[in-house]
Amino acid sequence: MSDIKHKISKIASEHILSKGFSLSEEDALNLLETPADSKLGDLALPCFKLSKVLRNRPDAIASELVSLFENVDGLEKVEAVGGYLNFFFGSAKYISDLKALLNDDYSAIAEKGKGKTLVLDFSSPNIAKRFHLGHLGTTVIGNAVRNIYKFCGYKTVAINYLGDWGTQNGKQIVAYKKWSSREQLEREGIKELERIYVMFGKEAEKDPSLNAEARAAFHELESGNEEYLEIWKLFKDISLREYTQTYKRLGIEFDVWDGESFYTDKMPAIVQELRDKELLKIDDGASIVDLSEYKMPPALILKSDGSTLYPTRDIAAAKYRYDTYKFDKCAYVTSAGQSLHFAQWFKVTEMMGKDWAKDLVHIPYGTMSFGGEKLASRTGNIILLNDVFDEAVAKARAIIEEKNVANENKDEISEAVGIGAVLFSALSNSRIKDTNFTWEGTLSFEGNAGPYVQYTYARAASVLRRGEYNGEFGSYTPVSEEAELIRKLSEFGDTVERAANDYEPSHISRYALSVCTLFNQFYHNCRILGSGGETEQFRLALTSATRNILGKCLDLLGIRRTEEI
Ligand code: ARG
Repeated sequence: MSDIKHKISKIASEHILSKGFSLSEEDALNLLETPADSKLGDLALPCFKLSKVLRNRPDAIASELVSLFENVDGLEKVEAVGGYLNFFFGSAKYISDLKALLNDDYSAIAEKGKGKTLVLDFSSPNIAKRFHLGHLGTTVIGNAVRNIYKFCGYKTVAINYLGDWGTQNGKQIVAYKKWSSREQLEREGIKELERIYVMFGKEAEKDPSLNAEARAAFHELESGNEEYLEIWKLFKDISLREYTQTYKRLGIEFDVWDGESFYTDKMPAIVQELRDKELLKIDDGASIVDLSEYKMPPALILKSDGSTLYPTRDIAAAKYRYDTYKFDKCAYVTSAGQSLHFAQWFKVTEMMGKDWAKDLVHIPYGTMSFGGEKLASRTGNIILLNDVFDEAVAKARAIIEEKNVANENKDEISEAVGIGAVLFSALSNSRIKDTNFTWEGTLSFEGNAGPYVQYTYARAASVLRRGEYNGEFGSYTPVSEEAELIRKLSEFGDTVERAANDYEPSHISRYALSVCTLFNQFYHNCRILGSGGETEQFRLALTSATRNILGKCLDLLGIRRTEEI
């Protein structure tokens, strides 16, 4: 937060106090806004809300206040227009803001989360199936939220809560024993697992007794049958081999891989606690927690045969996480389809009297689809994530080749741009909205898309490689394109904080786009290289600040930087 804002709010607050009314500095600060049009100044104090406090008309208040700001350091001009006080910073402020940007010091933001821990549960696929489009949101939103919190100084624990324990594993074991072999599995990998799982579904339609067999197999697995455990382990290893490749391609890492199976032995204590606290009700043989008081269907804790359920496991896992990591926040990124599940079991932990219940956060997102467009390879109705990435990379490569860039690193650049484009698309809408991808929109180098950001970043990097910077621009007076860009760049810190508070990476992607637009306006209207003297130095400095900020935005979003395109 800049000093000048504090100065202005202090002056306003003191004046109002001296008149016998009250407005705290904090409240004055919250009133300040940035005018959309820089012709109206760099900052404005709308006097409409003050009107009630001071019992006067907004325009009269503005005219009364204006003289207070006449000799304030860092303010060039103040105007009362309508009910607004408009502040103009003048070039000294821009020069000092630019210098602050060049310092590249965000330790004040990192202070906010110091000593705090965020546990983040994301991606978490159910084993034995490849990643599909449905996994994109949780994976990339989760990773971006993690990066954002790290930037804010939090310690983060990224947990991949693999779906590795359930009746589907019983089905897989039965199918494997009937229709596959270790050799086949080793050779074909996860595809083989998918093949036999689909086959199980079809066969079970003809012969429903297979389902009972699968339940029995899972029961055996739970009771520690060595042979089954070994097969299950093999399924898990093969799935992980596949997932790790994708995570590597995306540059995503996890700290903890405790899947659902890990929490199995932690459930009986939870069930007992629920019973002791008289929260369990028997309903048709099943054990439930009644949530009708909270207008929700009951949380299912035990089936009538005594087996545990998804909520039971989540409650046990949350308690374990609290005991282990003493989290300040424990967040879960899943599709909005699971919102009720989270609301229900969050409520149950509250009823159990856990004081960490208030620190559980669900981060839901909307569906992601490919709008009527054909994907080269499609498996039934499922769009595989790797196919999306491969196709994006191929298309990025075609565009880069068409631009006829003489470049040795085309493979690397196409990979970065193709993948970055898909990631950016997944992160550019408010997360709760549904996203419909189109290749055209996703891969645009000009529009609101990832390649535009990477391209602008590379453009800034290229200017800097060619320029000779010595940092001497002290008395330069910025023109409007430059002032606007500095203004926007200075909003970076606030934007990251907002993104953290709202668990909303799209604040960053949208911000990055507006930085790009302003930088490109500056780039086209103001000659940088060869402009000479302080002008050139100032412009190089501004280009460098832009490159820094865009680079940070890309890092936070989990998208690779491209030094050249
Ligand atoms: N495995 C689940 C799925 O694929 C997501 C798990 C989300 N995390 C959790 N703790 N429930 O739908």
